[in-house]
Amino acid sequence: MKTVLITGANRGLGLEFCRQYAQAGWQVLACCRQPEKAKALSQLANHYPALRIVPLDIQNHQQCDALAAELQQVTIDVLISNAGVYGGHHAFGHLDYNAWRDTLETNVLSAMKLAEVFAPHLAASQSGLFIAISSLMGSMADNGSGGSYLYRSSKAALNAVMKSLSFDFASQGTGVLIFHPGWVQTDMGGPNGLIDVDESVTGMRQHIEQFEMSQSGSFIKYDGTAMPW
Ligand SMILES: NC(=O)c1ccc[n+]([C@@H]2O[C@H](COP(=O)([O-])OP(=O)(O)OC[C@H]3O[C@@H](n4cnc5c(N)ncnc54)[C@H](OP(=O)(O)O)[C@@H]3O)[C@@H](O)[C@H]2O)c1
Repeated sequence: MKTVLITGANRGLGLEFCRQYAQAGWQVLACCRQPEKAKALSQLANHYPALRIVPLDIQNHQQCDALAAELQQVTIDVLISNAGVYGGHHAFGHLDYNAWRDTLETNVLSAMKLAEVFAPHLAASQSGLFIAISSLMGSMADNGSGGSYLYRSSKAALNAVMKSLSFDFASQGTGVLIFHPGWVQTDMGGPNGLIDVDESVTGMRQHIEQFEMSQSGSFIKYDGTAMPW
């Protein structure tokens, strides 16, 4: 049985990743920061015994270290670093620097911390793969409208560190894939999103399944289209 670890598993894309991988017969380590409030995830866990809900606030590095130690004997085939925040709408002249630091902490540093602590668990897999859920808004080439300083800078930085990670992980045989999930109907994407979570996650899972090491470090859309940096 293959194992996937997913962060931000209680709602949106993370919850749908859990649903689809559990349905496909994987062991799912569903990480969220408030399990007691994760009703939809608890329902999934009741239905799929191989889905385990794991408390994890990705900003809490001690908790990340403790979880990695607790799972020391567990091989992780796919780690989906999905948890993320938008950071709020702050126009030029009214930027909230504390919110900006918090956005960078969650979207960049926490994703990298996960990669560091779970490197051995991924190395133990024949085909370990680290997935970063990024965004088109991290693309310089695509930025035709400006604004969204907090979110854009965090996803651009995430792309940069994940590209570097792909070189460090190559030596242990672990791949890295960076996704733009599409504009998806979730709390973050809002109701006007162009696609639903099913279409986005189905597409990403297909490309995770077909992944080859020669693709490591690429930035692609949920449907496999190459994304401009
Ligand atoms: N939806 C879109 O259109 C879209 C487009 C491009 C990229 N993305 C990216 O896709 C990913 C998932 O987004 P979504 O649309 O599913 O958003 P969402 O519905 O707002 O879900 C965000 C998830 O991240 C979790 N999270 C935030 N900070 C956390 C922390 N410190 N520790 C643990 N969990 C934390 C949230 O947990 P809580 O419930 O505890 O807050 C929640 O589970 C994000 O990285 C986002 O940037 C989304």
